[in-house]
Amino acid sequence: MSYFSLKEELSASTHRWLVTGAAGFIGSHLVETLLGLNQRVVGLDNFSTGHRHNLMQVKDRLTKSQWELFDFIEGDIRDVDTCHNAVNGVDYVLHQAALGSVPRSIENPIVTNASNIDGFLNMLVSSCKANVKRFVYAASSSTYGDHPDLPKVEDKIGKPLSPYAVTKYVNELYADVFSKTYGIECIGLRYFNVFGPRQDPKGAYAAVIPKWFEAMLSLSPCFINGDGETSRDFSYISNTVQANLLAATTTNEKAINQVFNVAFGSRTTLNELHGYIRSLVQEKMPEALVNAPEYRDFRDGDVRHSMADITKATTRLGYVPSHGVKQGLIETIDWFFEHRVDSESLNPV
Ligand SMILES: NC(=O)c1ccc[n+]([C@@H]2O[C@H](COP(=O)([O-])OP(=O)(O)OC[C@H]3O[C@@H](n4cnc5c(N)ncnc54)[C@H](O)[C@@H]3O)[C@@H](O)[C@H]2O)c1
Repeated sequence: MSYFSLKEELSASTHRWLVTGAAGFIGSHLVETLLGLNQRVVGLDNFSTGHRHNLMQVKDRLTKSQWELFDFIEGDIRDVDTCHNAVNGVDYVLHQAALGSVPRSIENPIVTNASNIDGFLNMLVSSCKANVKRFVYAASSSTYGDHPDLPKVEDKIGKPLSPYAVTKYVNELYADVFSKTYGIECIGLRYFNVFGPRQDPKGAYAAVIPKWFEAMLSLSPCFINGDGETSRDFSYISNTVQANLLAATTTNEKAINQVFNVAFGSRTTLNELHGYIRSLVQEKMPEALVNAPEYRDFRDGDVRHSMADITKATTRLGYVPSHGVKQGLIETIDWFFEHRVDSESLNPV
């Protein structure tokens, strides 16, 4: 089924969804889209990296009756009783809660492991017991590790390069074993560098796109780790949301208990990305002078190049990414402009 038809079908029939990590970047977009389609949604989050203001922004973008379809549980997936409570009566689970970031996992592997593996297992056990129709979870392109092939094809993975990558691979192993042992239908979505509005620009572990939008819009320096020729398959959030909804509802047997690359399917270097964002910012603030990037050392645990082959998702899920990198950046800039840091050198916001 096409994504367009799926949205029409969902609008006409209400299901109950659980989105873990609902206050985070990706989770909040899933909540927004599902409520916009008049679905009942339970959100679960402990606000470790997510924010209440993300949920408030979702609320502002919906009608009152759509927002009333939302129940929120402030809780931690490391607590199995919380997970049991959250999945009660749920049809589809979209499990996003985890601690992201390769550097964070290198600095504190124990904390990353607890949410990403123990928490994942709690969610999987609870979802089995509750007989959910489908358990869709956020996997990661980091699972490709040191495998040199480009583009990345789902069944050719290398060795993980960070504790974070280990946790995401363990998720896939658990999902596979649970589907074979207990019959739960799981689908893993290996996200490749997702970006868009509400992605957190703050803190040591922020991703490059929000960091650069915020830095350029406040006329602060942008740093590139390495020579700038490192490349990634940057994918706009709408593509990720689409893949989740298709995965949760697909009736294609060949899609069940599988993992899929979720990306746009092209490669952009950091130097190119800096140029794209710089020209958008320059267009938005013609009076400002945005500087060239500053280069520093390569970062531990980073893979050099990443690009997805999305054939499996397109053929088995009907996934058709709606936004390329440039289009996604155009959709994103306004949010960062509206939420940019106060700066005396700019008009205060
Ligand atoms: N953003 C990307 O490019 C990307 C790429 C690959 C995979 N992923 C995965 O996608 C998922 C969502 O990522 P995101 O970018 O939205 O990150 P995010 O940090 O914005 O969202 C994660 C959410 O999970 C919540 N959370 C973390 N630990 C929790 C716990 N123990 N109990 C309850 N809630 C908890 C956080 O508070 C946060 O709201 C994660 O699983 C991440 O590993 C993201």
